[in-house]
Amino acid sequence: MNNEIQMVDLRRQYQKIQPEIDAAVLNCLASTAYINGPEVKRFQDGLEQYLNVTHVVPCANGTDALQIALMALELNPGDEVIVPAFTYVATAEVIGLLGLTPVMVDVDRDTFNVTAEIIEAAITPRTKVIVPVHLFGQSCDMGPIMALAEKHGIYVIEDNAQAIGADYLLADGSGMKTGAIGHIGCTSFFPSKNLGCYGDGGAIFTHDDALAEKLRMIANHGQAERYYHSVIGVNSRLDSIQAAILNIKLQHLDEYCNARRRAADFYDASFAEIGELQTPVRHANSTHVFHQYTLQVADGKRADLQEHLQKNGVPSMIYYPVPLYRQKAFSKYVSADFELPVTEELCSAVLSLPVHTEMNDDLLGLITGHVRDFFG
Ligand SMILES: Cc1ncc(COP(=O)(O)O)c(C=O)c1O
Repeated sequence: MNNEIQMVDLRRQYQKIQPEIDAAVLNCLASTAYINGPEVKRFQDGLEQYLNVTHVVPCANGTDALQIALMALELNPGDEVIVPAFTYVATAEVIGLLGLTPVMVDVDRDTFNVTAEIIEAAITPRTKVIVPVHLFGQSCDMGPIMALAEKHGIYVIEDNAQAIGADYLLADGSGMKTGAIGHIGCTSFFPSKNLGCYGDGGAIFTHDDALAEKLRMIANHGQAERYYHSVIGVNSRLDSIQAAILNIKLQHLDEYCNARRRAADFYDASFAEIGELQTPVRHANSTHVFHQYTLQVADGKRADLQEHLQKNGVPSMIYYPVPLYRQKAFSKYVSADFELPVTEELCSAVLSLPVHTEMNDDLLGLITGHVRDFFG
């Protein structure tokens, strides 16, 4: 058994559900229904129910989900899409790929998320879409973002790749699942995600019947009827085997989110006295499903802390080290001196610690012990 500490421990998670998973995969192999088999429809129905959303359109990965969502909105070259500069590249990449213009905006220092206020300052007559990213597992404050979008006649595509299972909490105390709030929601089932399969997978969500039809058609070579192609589409499908795995893992999603939250609670309590660390701030408007547990390390001590952890066998990651506007691929969208202050600060201060479903107090005690030792 490999006892190395992992950022995400997929092996132990798999071992706990191995009989069910193995049976489902073998079943799928024997059925030969590898493409669009009954498991895919079953997963679609199950996820619709879980998210309380009218339509789920499964697809091949989270990046495709974002691309197909943008394609369904029938935008024109040069139309502007507002996106945070502090996110994974996929969110902005698809905007450029489709000949649209990514307008990169800053995020809130505490939650790592965009806010309606930040977005509003970037709206121009060419703005057609906002893509809020529920970064690290916590919802953006979607009420004001949806109100802003309505005021300006703009679409909202939620990038929910990191927050599936989180609830956005409304003033009346009720909750809505992230991804089911905007006009379209997108997610990824990359293995390390909160709901991950054993390869690539993704899905698109909407309450809108007409949009759902378009999304389905685009994901299927632009055809509603076989060999009759109405629009240019793509080939983006969730494999039946991955759907079979997801059907089992969906049953565990809430339990997985709770396990991650429990690990985060342990970290929070252990680091409460360390003034040089800011632990993740939990927004009152959202539950947090801790796709990442991300600290902000003060006074330029991040590199030393990371080295100290590495020497002691504790992995850590920097999500994300470089603002999107500093990436060569995005240089054409910004001037050479373009800079967003919070994004700059976060890129030099954030450090994510291991967080996954298989953490116990011994492991958490070991990791937090090494962090505390560093700060003396
Ligand atoms: C915020 C965000 N958006 C989009 C993606 C893209 O998902 P995928 O890797 O399935 O294409 C990811 C994950 O990798 C992500 O973290």
